Amino acid sequence: MTAIVDADPVLLAEFDRQRNAKQDVLFAKGMNGGMGGYESAVAARKNDLFEDVFASLPKGSNVEATVVEVGMGTFPNARYYFDGGRRGGRKLDIVGVDPNDAMESFARSNLAKANEAFGGGGGEDASLRIVHGVAEALPLKDNSADAVVCTLTLCSVLDQVAAVSEIKRILKPGAPFMFIEHVLSEDDPRLAAQQISLNGMQVAMADGCHLDRKTLDVIDAAGFASVRSERFTLPGFGLISSQVAGIAIV
Ligand SMILES: C[S@@+](CC[C@H](N)C(=O)[O-])C[C@H]1O[C@@H](n2cnc3c(N)ncnc32)[C@H](O)[C@@H]1O
Repeated sequence: MTAIVDADPVLLAEFDRQRNAKQDVLFAKGMNGGMGGYESAVAARKNDLFEDVFASLPKGSNVEATVVEVGMGTFPNARYYFDGGRRGGRKLDIVGVDPNDAMESFARSNLAKANEAFGGGGGEDASLRIVHGVAEALPLKDNSADAVVCTLTLCSVLDQVAAVSEIKRILKPGAPFMFIEHVLSEDDPRLAAQQISLNGMQVAMADGCHLDRKTLDVIDAAGFASVRSERFTLPGFGLISSQVAGIAIV
């Protein structure tokens, strides 16, 4: 297992802000119960992206691969770690990092359900460690992760440039950073105007989630060796209908 270490204290002091425990519980419950429609809408894309991530992980029956879910939340991605036998005999060292400690029980429950439904209930070769932390100050060593996954997280971090820089720092050379995020619309000016005007309310009500982020620009500018990405629209998803997905390689 890769080591969990103390995050940079200066970054931690700046970015791991005091939280409201009651709001954290409400948000965790809301995310766990209210995102089924969204998860169905992105399932095929997530499946393809996880397929690519797993294809790049170190292979072999005695090999362990470390995958870090930054902003793991309730771990709706758990099923993709088990689907289709893609673990291929590897041991999985899954590390979830999130500042909302109320997410953990949901994440563990969703992992158990995914293992039951898609993994045959074995599960002994996938470990999950959940660590309190933030994307801008990750508690992992340089070059220690075989993959990083971010889904709907870069909308919520305080500083996207710092977060992506940390993600790059912990990835091993050649390892993938997989992302799916909602962003400011580039092709629908009316939607973009709504996203901008309602951004403040969304930030206040949805735990810092921004509607006006140009996340792909930040990833493109971060100095990855390559970035494969697509912009797409999810009809019916209103303010979060404008999305980006892809894989960046360090
Ligand atoms: C919209 S939820 C998405 C959670 C999960 N990745 C998913 O796909 O459902 C955003 C998550 O980012 C977490 N978060 C907020 N600020 C963060 C930060 N600075 N660093 C890492 N995670 C953060 C929240 O606690 C929450 O779990």
